[in-house]
Amino acid sequence: MAETFPVQRTCPFAPPPEYERMREQAPLVRAALPGGEVWLVTRLAEAKQVLAGGGISTSPSTPGHPNAALSADGGRTPEQHAVLGRFTAGHFIDLDPPEHSRFRRLLIPEFTVRRVKELRPGIQRLVDGLIDDMLAQGPEAELVEAFGLALPSLVICQLLGVPYADREFFQSRTRSIVAARHPQEAYAAVVEIMTFLDELITETERRPQDDLLGRLILNGGLTHDELVGVTFLLLVAGHETTANMIPLAALTLMRHPDQLAALRADPGGWPMAVDELLRYHSIVDWVAFDRVATEDQEIGGQLVRRGEGIFVLGASANRDELAFERPDEFDVGRGARHHVAFGYGVHQCLGQNLARAELEISLRTLFERIPGLRVTVADEELPAKYDGAIFGLKAMPVTW
Ligand code: HEM
Repeated sequence: MAETFPVQRTCPFAPPPEYERMREQAPLVRAALPGGEVWLVTRLAEAKQVLAGGGISTSPSTPGHPNAALSADGGRTPEQHAVLGRFTAGHFIDLDPPEHSRFRRLLIPEFTVRRVKELRPGIQRLVDGLIDDMLAQGPEAELVEAFGLALPSLVICQLLGVPYADREFFQSRTRSIVAARHPQEAYAAVVEIMTFLDELITETERRPQDDLLGRLILNGGLTHDELVGVTFLLLVAGHETTANMIPLAALTLMRHPDQLAALRADPGGWPMAVDELLRYHSIVDWVAFDRVATEDQEIGGQLVRRGEGIFVLGASANRDELAFERPDEFDVGRGARHHVAFGYGVHQCLGQNLARAELEISLRTLFERIPGLRVTVADEELPAKYDGAIFGLKAMPVTW
């Protein structure tokens, strides 16, 4: 019988409880959505096979795409629809090769390990500035707003060369996109940001500098509207994800004081710890992993036919007992880099090196500079986005 889907998380530290049962049942299980049936992929090997991309499409316009069974327009106004429509050209996360490869080729040099290494001192300065502010206003803070949400939008500002005077505007609108209570509120903020990026790019086109936007302009290959769409995608993809991970990761480390102490004693362990935090939380789950088969194929012993929709359960694959020992345990020493928290294959997260650097620098510095940091409410009282597309906490009151 088909599973009922979607299902929700009930605890900040675990995927939806149904995932374990589905995983035991099979690597691919059938699920009933309001608009039709789809396949759910529960295990890591099969998740990687699907995400690798052969005979698989991610484009919502491919017949059978599973979002057709889920999506709603959310009541955009005609003006908002026009702005959003104009810049979908650069939204390459929804494109298949070869169109997708054109964008990816131009952007990969901007996110290499070497390029991110150059960005690290700037990230460290931003982190220190936010912690200075928290300490000045303390000894209490709300970590999601003061730290989690603030850092990624400042990093993106730095990356895109957003003038200092515009940062407050940029930050408040990106916060509205993430924290909107109603789709209308989010669309309004999206339109404002897109209009802002449109103007920023027009200005940069006149005087391109040696920064990400300047290089994309000078290298050519993208139209103005595609550039606006690409920068907007970078903003959206890199903002809520990192913003949600920082407080959740801080919480998990506070709940495992022995492992935090080991990291303090040996900061060389941070990169491995960051990958374990990404695996353990798997904040990006099936919503990002929407695919459709473009040819008949066998996946995990199951025949999947052309035109059948697939959701990869990233949060289940990252708890697959065939791929990780004691998968429900948090263990910063496990070496979890083969996780799919950043996806896999064609669309694997373009910003993963940057995200790893942001997480490592923010968490290490937070616990170095505020060693007595603690949450002021019980875990059950922390408000969480159980129904959100990306999992995270809505607020986390802390003191020191
Ligand atoms: C903890 C932070 C992050 C997580 C967990 C995350 C997760 C993901 C995942 C799962 C995908 C794959 C989606 C798919 O398969 O369709 C993805 C794609 C992407 N991410 Fe990230 N991401 C993070 C941070 C960032 C950052 C900081 C940036 C850039 C500033 C970024 C930019 C992108 C882009 C552009 C794509 C689309 C790649 C493509 O389609 O080729 N992400 N991310």
